[in-house]
Amino acid sequence: MLKDDDCYFPINGNTLTIEQYCKDNFNSFNFSCPHSDFHVWSCHHFEYDTVRDIVLNDPTLSKIDKVLEISHCFIMEISKNSWVGWHFDYPRKGPALNLLLTPSHRSFSLFTETLYDMSNIIECQYKPHQYVLYNTDHIHSIINLDEPRYLFSALFKRGKTNLVWPEAIQLLSNIDYE
Ligand SMILES: [Fe+2]
Repeated sequence: MLKDDDCYFPINGNTLTIEQYCKDNFNSFNFSCPHSDFHVWSCHHFEYDTVRDIVLNDPTLSKIDKVLEISHCFIMEISKNSWVGWHFDYPRKGPALNLLLTPSHRSFSLFTETLYDMSNIIECQYKPHQYVLYNTDHIHSIINLDEPRYLFSALFKRGKTNLVWPEAIQLLSNIDYE
């Protein structure tokens, strides 16, 4: 049976630098969705050079990057009163490091083991100022019953191919974030 830590895992480490960066640069972000005209979700993808600048200037992300190289960062917007239906991420992203930028909003990120038996739904318990390692390989869905929801997400170079969930938890849990 699917358990919380199969789906998400809280990661220590200060989030204030990236939160401030997102606030300061929000107006320059360009949200777009290549897959649909329906404005349910869209992303601002950071250029590679920007990702490097963000990572090197962030005390937490720079430590993480030393053990698991961060290859890509983006901000996802989910429109108000919208539902991103059940899916797993394809092509594979592997474990994602997520930070919910609008934690006070009424929104839910849910996991299920299968689409046939939904008797064991797990909610990703995002908290303010806390990174969460998020298992994109499990079927998930996001419901936003509020104003637009924003999430910062970082992906790892090894994630697309050979980074498995238990190893990602172990590597990021062993970092001294102080
Ligand atoms: Fe997803």
